[in-house]
Amino acid sequence: MINNRKIQISVSILGADLSKVDQAIKLCEDSGVDAIHVDVMDGHFVPQITFGNKFLSDIKKITKLPNDVHLMVNNPDRFIDVYLKAGADAISFHIEADIHVNKTLSSIKDGGAKAGICIIPSTPVAALSEIIDIVDFVQVMTVNPGFAGQKIIHSSIRKIGELDAIRRAKNLSFEISVDGGVNSQTAGELIKQGADILITASAFFNAPDPKKEAAIIRSGGL
Ligand code: DX5
Ligand code: ZN
Repeated sequence: MINNRKIQISVSILGADLSKVDQAIKLCEDSGVDAIHVDVMDGHFVPQITFGNKFLSDIKKITKLPNDVHLMVNNPDRFIDVYLKAGADAISFHIEADIHVNKTLSSIKDGGAKAGICIIPSTPVAALSEIIDIVDFVQVMTVNPGFAGQKIIHSSIRKIGELDAIRRAKNLSFEISVDGGVNSQTAGELIKQGADILITASAFFNAPDPKKEAAIIRSGGL
């Protein structure tokens, strides 16, 4: 708990050795993390191709941990149904990649999942003005999406504070998640600015003691 807020950790499975995905998920469970973050990349919106819906339905069979699916794909509206059917608990997509954003958010909520909107580092918070009151969470990208293991872009961090100020001013309850370059050095500032959910791949999986790393990040870093 930090200032009455429970900070949640979501571990991006992209950072795991996927030949041992069951062990990686067990490590997440044993480390007490809150969710598994599934980075879906289409090779168009971002350069790599990663997980399909079958991957999600398969990992659902081996864990009760909630998941959050991060769609880094063009035209994400076309993929909402298949990820809902695969068992997504939360789905976020990029405002830069979608046209009828209100409709896409509604289709996620109607399917019973939490609906999140993501912004890349070059997109200002102002781009969210027309949808901010209907999102369950905003995911601030603090790296350009596409790869795990990048360094945080410091100028993006202030957007967390801007969102927190909007949330207070409008008395809204959306959560703020942060994705990219989260580690024990950066977590403190992210939480101070108002982040509720910290997403991490490399800091967790590359740590000598991932459970300890998750606990340090959750408590505000070093
Ligand atoms: C980046 C992905 C992130 C990534 C985070 O495109 O959306 O979720 O896996 O990786 P780290 O924590 O290594 O920056
Ligand atoms: Zn992600």
